[in-house]
Amino acid sequence: MNIRCARVDDLMSMQNANLMCLPENYQMKYYFYHALSWPQLSYIAEDHKGNVVGYVLAKMEEDPGEEPHGHITSLAVKRSYRRLGLANKMMDQTARAMVETYNAKFVSLHVRVSNRAALNLYKNTLKFEIVDTEPKYYADGEDAYAMRRDLAKWAEERDIEPADKEAYAVSKNSDDKKKQRH
Ligand SMILES: CC(C)(COP(=O)(O)OP(=O)(O)OC[C@H]1O[C@@H](n2cnc3c(N)ncnc32)[C@H](O)[C@@H]1OP(=O)(O)O)[C@@H](O)C(=O)NCCC(=O)NCCS
Repeated sequence: MNIRCARVDDLMSMQNANLMCLPENYQMKYYFYHALSWPQLSYIAEDHKGNVVGYVLAKMEEDPGEEPHGHITSLAVKRSYRRLGLANKMMDQTARAMVETYNAKFVSLHVRVSNRAALNLYKNTLKFEIVDTEPKYYADGEDAYAMRRDLAKWAEERDIEPADKEAYAVSKNSDDKKKQRH
């Protein structure tokens, strides 16, 4: 099994995997939007024949009032390739690229409150925290947890170099001051 950055010619296979695994589906133009705007951030897992067996589709949030942060739009691994650590590895690759390319301080996502497998992965393995519950977030009326993973400490512990070290350190210092005040 190999994990690598997604290319434009992977997008159809990613959409196909998404249709097989999740009720939240997207038009092809939304995949292109991700791949063309943030080409470093989406990853695929492929088998020995080069077939896509899992993907993470990711982007940066462009909210001027907030620190730079990434967002996981979609993540899935085909059924017979689950519990091999592929989602864990793809999520770490994406997180690294968010820090190295875009100075991301954290990464966010939404997950169904009933999605036990994904919640275990996010909470226990990847150390995401629940920051909010969004009622009726999904089209069928199910609530979502909004979750966040702090990347600053994670990157520091792994010697991952942010895109702009100075800016990253400045925002780190102001974060530390904020924490001291609270
Ligand atoms: C959630 C999903 C992406 C996990 O993919 P995966 O490659 O099997 O996950 P990993 O092998 O990296 O799992 C890492 C850890 O997550 C947890 N986990 C994963 N699947 C689990 C399950 N079915 N039940 C309980 N815990 C689970 C475990 O702690 C696991 O570590 P372990 O195998 O050492 O116990 C996959 O189950 C999937 O595609 N589900 C359908 C789509 C989906 O729900 N996507 C997320 C939408 S927010």
